[in-house]
Amino acid sequence: MAGSGVFAELLDGDTFKYYADGQWKRSTSGNSMTVINPTSRSTYYKLSVCTKEEMDHMFDAAREAQRAWARVPLWRRAEALHKAAALLKQNKDVIAECLVKEVAKPAKDSVTEVVRSADFIDYTAEEGIRILSEGKCLVPDSFPGNERNKLCLSSRIPLGVVLAIPPFNYPVNLSVSKIAPALIAGNAVVVKPPMQGSVAALHMIQCFHLAGFPKGLISAITIKVADLGDALTTHPAINCISFTGGDSGIAIAKRAGMVPLQMELGGKDACIVLDDADLDLAAANIIKGGFSFSGQRCTAVKIVLAMDTIANKLVEKVNVKVARLSVGPPEVDSDITPVVSESSADFIEGLVMDARQKGAKLWQEYRREGNLIWPILIDNVRPDMRITWEEPFGPIIPVIRIRTIEEGVQHCNSSRYGLQGCVFTNNIHRALIVSDAMETGTVQINSAPARGPDHFPFQGLRDSGIGSQGITNSIHMMTKVKSTVINLPVSSYTMG
Ligand code: G3H
Repeated sequence: MAGSGVFAELLDGDTFKYYADGQWKRSTSGNSMTVINPTSRSTYYKLSVCTKEEMDHMFDAAREAQRAWARVPLWRRAEALHKAAALLKQNKDVIAECLVKEVAKPAKDSVTEVVRSADFIDYTAEEGIRILSEGKCLVPDSFPGNERNKLCLSSRIPLGVVLAIPPFNYPVNLSVSKIAPALIAGNAVVVKPPMQGSVAALHMIQCFHLAGFPKGLISAITIKVADLGDALTTHPAINCISFTGGDSGIAIAKRAGMVPLQMELGGKDACIVLDDADLDLAAANIIKGGFSFSGQRCTAVKIVLAMDTIANKLVEKVNVKVARLSVGPPEVDSDITPVVSESSADFIEGLVMDARQKGAKLWQEYRREGNLIWPILIDNVRPDMRITWEEPFGPIIPVIRIRTIEEGVQHCNSSRYGLQGCVFTNNIHRALIVSDAMETGTVQINSAPARGPDHFPFQGLRDSGIGSQGITNSIHMMTKVKSTVINLPVSSYTMG
């Protein structure tokens, strides 16, 4: 159960504390805020509301701890990360239960998220050793006018303090995907967990605490974003921001100043199905890509662009599979579970109603109970409908019928988003031509969009983001190059 066993120190009465100075603390504000269970729509957990002074103190402590951490041998940093990963795995059930209650993630997927996070940390520790143990030595005489009397030694050093802001849909996995690269590289981290998902994230932080990381190096702050969000994201102590979420990332990026940014924002990932595609494969991937975690993934299939010669057959196959999806609470592993909040459900409903009113065909009857929305395939979608361009983050998939491949690619490239896309065809040459033409960070051939495996590069174009993720890229992004140039007396190089 949350807040029990090795997690007991997280709780003060019924309120979860925040983490700073290597301790769990109750905020001096005396205020709390609530985490709503999306299924019951009632308060499930309470969190401390931290003050500005507590935030400032966290950053001061982070700066101090980081200077010492940067000097800790790389192999010891890796060792500590492996310990945290082992603790996460040992405590996967209790953390997964928090995910079920806070974000209504199906029970099995919740366990998978925690295990994937532990694997992420282990891989990062090893990849960090590979990347950071190597440097370069340059000699100068390849550049005109130089003799061979200088040596440039360069290696990678940490940035300083990384602000990590993960989203509700992966509060554990997308926290560790920021924390682990930051730490292996010698940085400190301040984590601002999402409101829904905070308790799971705080439990994950306790695994780092138990692994013995130095005090102040990792902090977790719980704040009311409306009050302290700007102060947090523009804090002068920040040397890097890694954010995953929605459009608020654009505002953060505009205000951030001269710090490296890693921003994973929205997506409107298109699935282009050509006339020679394996339609069973395409249908299975549309279901998996569009409806896993009820469509609440930035990489979800958010629009299907089907060649009109095969569209009827494809839709028929997808509909058979939609009818088989189970709908209900996350505890019993339903395929479709309640979306994260009432406002999110209202937004999704608005998109469905707009499409219906403008003449789209809903293959399933629209049905909603509380935050639970039954899965729908919306056919004959046209450009004047909101669902064509907006990201629903819910269990609805729009279908547009296209006459040519170019039409599909052009649609995809007209979106303000450019995260991923996918193309289904049995002709690899056509697949590569489409991939080349699609302006997205990644194109999947014959599979649904996905971030993993977690060491693959992961990035978006346009409003989908800045920078590239994936373990290797995150380590590079959270470090900078430092050079030392050894200048030798010229005479020692002109031997006679
Ligand atoms: O929601 C955004 C995530 O980065 C998507 O990750 O493809 O593993 O579900 P995923």
